[in-house]
Order: sequence, then structure tokens, then C-alpha cells
Amino acid sequence: MDKSLSQLSQQLQLLISPSPLQELNHPLLQSKNISLSVKRDDLLHADISGNKWRKLKFNLIEARKQGINHLVSFGGAYSNHIHALAAAGHYFGFETSAIIRGEPHYANNPTLKQAQQWGMHLHFVSRQEYRQREEPQYLQRLQDKFPEALIIPEGGSSPFAIPGVMELCDELMQQSVKRIDHIFTATGSGGTLAGLIAGFSNNQQKNSTRITGIAVLKQADYLLTNIDHLLGQANQSSVNDWQLLTQFHGGGYAKVSPELGDFCSQFESECGIPIEPIYTGKMFYALFELIKQDYFNDGDNIVALHTGGLQGLQGLNKPH
Ligand SMILES: Cc1ncc(COP(=O)(O)O)c(C=O)c1O
Repeated sequence: MDKSLSQLSQQLQLLISPSPLQELNHPLLQSKNISLSVKRDDLLHADISGNKWRKLKFNLIEARKQGINHLVSFGGAYSNHIHALAAAGHYFGFETSAIIRGEPHYANNPTLKQAQQWGMHLHFVSRQEYRQREEPQYLQRLQDKFPEALIIPEGGSSPFAIPGVMELCDELMQQSVKRIDHIFTATGSGGTLAGLIAGFSNNQQKNSTRITGIAVLKQADYLLTNIDHLLGQANQSSVNDWQLLTQFHGGGYAKVSPELGDFCSQFESECGIPIEPIYTGKMFYALFELIKQDYFNDGDNIVALHTGGLQGLQGLNKPH
């Protein structure tokens, strides 16, 4: 193996150890005879936490394999993915650039300030231009502008995201003493859900697990096709039972009703686990609603994935 690649693999291995699986103790769970454990990926790393870490890992390895030292990606003004990519560049020696939806003065917000301190270059584009981020011609123009770069899609959800999330499934397999009946994750771009589908489908023992994504944005049905496509690109099949629930968006991406805000505060004080209302809060809210509605079978064992994202709290109630 090339020296810089083996160095990166060692660094990645040393820096990150399996995240804990924490069982929750909550009166609702007891009254409904449901076990709920949280896979605490928020604790993976201080700056590259949650599913960001899982999705970036093999993107970094692939870049190093190909001798690419520059990573380019896309995000909003408070993007968890952009924050994590900048941190990864800083820790592992990659140049990073980000195409940010919005105006140059957003560069002063805490997320993007930190990203720049880690050495990331920011390029602000209009909403109209940002909408082209998956179009082949636009991507080709970007590649011409950054000929030496690996361009990573929004949210880090490239085919290389899949093996990273699959590692999480292997960890879970070793950690969980009970059969896992359900696993839940918050879904934005679909990469994490696709990785869980691949990871659980690949392992015969986990085949009875039902995988559920809670869409955090409105009109998210298009993600079903994206997820199938991503699985195909990563040469993974889906033999597992999975679904995307689209009714819990609560008004749309980053919309936080007073009810959701109250739920998150109560969850934190009752369970002692920090969450934010854009992703994990919406997922836990949905999960608790489903438990109240007796959606699950008596005795079911559920795992909820804590996908991190706590830095995104800095953007709440901000106009951009
Ligand atoms: C904290 C958090 N949770 C969940 C998600 C959704 O993950 P995905 O985009 O892979 O669906 C994101 C976005 O990447 C996120 O930042």
C-alpha cells in the first residue's frame, strides 16, 4: 500500500473507535414494553461526528488512493457536512473547497468561520446555480475549474458513503445482544439510509431488521429513486425491508414548531442525550409518536441512530 494511504488508514483507525450503543430508560418505553437503544455516533469525534464521519471515511480513502489532495463539496450556510469536510481536510491534510448556497456575508456565521479556520475555501452561489449541483454539465464545469479535485455530492452521499455506513452495521451487530427489530435514522439526502439498507442486507443474521428513514424535508418521495440509484452505484443490493416515512417533516427542512422544540428539550432532560431539531429531533419525535400509536409489536427492540449534527444548532432562528 502507498505510504500516504497507509498513514491515512492508520490515522482513521486510531482516531475513531466504535460509538457506544446506549439503552434508554423512559416511562413511555416501559409502558409499551419497547426497548430503544441509541447508537451514539454523535460521540465518534468532536468535529467530524455522526453520519458525516461514516460518509466521509471512504471518500477520503478513495481520494488518497487516487493521489487527489483537493476535496470539493456543496452545502447550505450551516451545513454539518461542510463543517465536517473542513475538519477532515484539516486533520488529514486535504485542501477543501465548498460551494455554498447564499451570499458572501454568510462567511461570518460560526459554521463557516470555523470551516475557514480549518483552511476551507468558500465559493458562494445563487440558489439558482446551487440547484444545478447534480447536473452532469454543471459538474463537468466545476471539474474543469478544479481539475485536481474529487467532487463529493451534497451531504457526502456518494457511492463511497455506503461502505462507511455499512461499518456501522457491523459494529451494531457486535454490540447488540438482542435481535434488532427496527433501526431508525433521520434522512436528508438518503446516503445514510442507503448505507443501512446495504449493511443490513449484507448480513444474513440481520435480515429481519426493518430499516426506517424519517424524511426531514417536504415532498421527499424522490429520495426513493435516489437511494436505489446510490445502492446500484455502490454495487449493493437491497434485500431488506426498508421504508422512508415522509409525514414527519413538520413543515419542511429546518422548520421547528414549538411542539418539536419542547419535545427536544424534554427528551434531553429525560434521556440525557443532546439532540437538535433539524435531524435527530425530528427522528426521535417521529419515533415517540409511532410508539404512542402502538405502531410496534409488543417487546420490539429498536435502535435509533444518533447522526450528530449538534453544531447545526448555531443556525437555528437565523435568517441564513
Ligand atoms: C445530523 C444529520 N443527521 C442526518 C442527516 C441525513 O443524512 P443523509 O443526508 O445521509 O440522509 C444529516 C445530513 O447529512 C445530518 O447532518
